[in-house]
Amino acid sequence: MSVGRRRLKLLGILMMVNFFIYVIVEVSKSSGQAKNSKRHVIIPQAKFWRKFVPHKAYWNKQQQKLERLSNPIFALLTNMTVEESLSSNGSFSNACDPDPFVALQINGFKDLPDRFKDFLHYLRCRNYSLLVDQPHKCKHKPFLLLAIKSLIPHFDRRQAIRQSWGKEIKSGDATVVRVFLLGQNSPEDNFPDLSDMLKFESETHQDILLWDYKDTFFNLTLKEVLFLKWVSNTCPDAQFIFKGDDDVFVNTHQILDYLKSLTKDKAKDLFIGDVIKDAGPHRDKTLKYYIPESIYEGSYPPYAGGGGFLYSGDLALRLANASDQVLLYPIDDVYTGMCLQKLGLAPEKHKGFKTFGIEEKHRDNICSYTNLMLVHSRQPQEIIKIWTNLQDPDLSC
Ligand SMILES: *[C@@H]1O[C@H](CO)[C@@H](O)[C@H](O)[C@H]1NC(C)=O
Ligand SMILES: *[C@@H]1O[C@H](CO)[C@@H](O)[C@H](O)[C@H]1NC(C)=O
Ligand SMILES: *[C@@H]1O[C@H](CO)[C@@H](O)[C@H](O)[C@H]1NC(C)=O
Ligand SMILES: *[C@@H]1O[C@H](CO)[C@@H](O)[C@H](O)[C@H]1NC(C)=O
Ligand SMILES: *[C@@H]1O[C@H](CO)[C@@H](O)[C@H](O)[C@H]1NC(C)=O
Repeated sequence: MSVGRRRLKLLGILMMVNFFIYVIVEVSKSSGQAKNSKRHVIIPQAKFWRKFVPHKAYWNKQQQKLERLSNPIFALLTNMTVEESLSSNGSFSNACDPDPFVALQINGFKDLPDRFKDFLHYLRCRNYSLLVDQPHKCKHKPFLLLAIKSLIPHFDRRQAIRQSWGKEIKSGDATVVRVFLLGQNSPEDNFPDLSDMLKFESETHQDILLWDYKDTFFNLTLKEVLFLKWVSNTCPDAQFIFKGDDDVFVNTHQILDYLKSLTKDKAKDLFIGDVIKDAGPHRDKTLKYYIPESIYEGSYPPYAGGGGFLYSGDLALRLANASDQVLLYPIDDVYTGMCLQKLGLAPEKHKGFKTFGIEEKHRDNICSYTNLMLVHSRQPQEIIKIWTNLQDPDLSC
């Protein structure tokens, strides 16, 4: 009997505890929903999962396919390689031959400007070979690698950079090294043959990387992807990387001071520049950045303007991997933003990056340049002049 009574007592206590929990939950619920007088269960307005919505624009559609393919579950269900299933009838075609299906898949393909047709035909090819390499550039673990996008004929811009902000220096125990990123100018487009001069330049300065692809505006993304692969293979220990154009002035000392001041945590995911947010494709046909609706829909992720940005070597290796899962996009800085987004990161705005220039009235004042990291655009002579003036030990700002 006493056992039965004890059980009854225990049951009573449990019921009391339950009752109290009930009261507490009800009270907290009603206080949390003070305005929801009907006390109905609140159903979330939006779904917490993302529904698969097929895209209409070509790039988005192909990117969606690529994402399904990099999904490990999907990969188990199919035997096809990425190239096979991306080519629309399932039969393998070499990714570097012009894609025979793209014209059939885009409405009005034949009316697109030639640069788009060209871009789309070779969208899947990215294994271009490196014709001029600098395999020993990063032998002594560089603190900062300067990677400058240039074009073969820009000899004077490259030389101005070598003589100024792009000097390979040692600042304390931090070394700075430099490479110029180049593609080919093909003779069929009537470019003069500058290969002997480039060979001489490369032997003299040992800072040229040349890949075997046509160096056009829409192929700048290839330059980015090939450079990231080069970093992974040849310069994986670079601590930081600056990548920018050959018509910018960079205050290298300011950048070094900034980088040396970073905490380890901040340094690992560093990606700073002149960040553009809430942008989307331009639809005005006359603009350099025009993208037709049939090719891309939606907005762009945050991205740092291609004039120049600064990031960690660690992040470069992750970006190189992420780039395998992002279809080439004709605008290189947007593409880099897409790869960052794949990694769950976003570039951070730093006010020292003046990719849209500085006010005209401050242009000739050397003190405008002491605190900035980058300004666009400057002629080779201006670059040398600003640099020389910045070195003046009597400079007081
Ligand atoms: C995958 O390929 C292997 C070898 O080529 C073949 O034996 C197998 O049947 C294929 N599986 C499917 C699901 O097609
Ligand atoms: C796929 O396309 C290729 C190249 O045009 C063609 O040779 C092949 O017959 C096509 N295969 C199918 C199954 O349609
Ligand atoms: C890229 O790789 C493919 C397949 O491996 C090969 O057929 C093609 O020639 C290569 N393209 C270039 C530009 O090296
Ligand atoms: C990019 O380079 C490749 C290889 O040289 C070339 O086939 C293609 O036409 C180029 N694309 C553009 C848009 O210039
Ligand atoms: C990149 O991918 C390779 C191969 O999948 C992997 O071994 C490597 O760890 C990855 N690197 C980074 C930095 O994620």
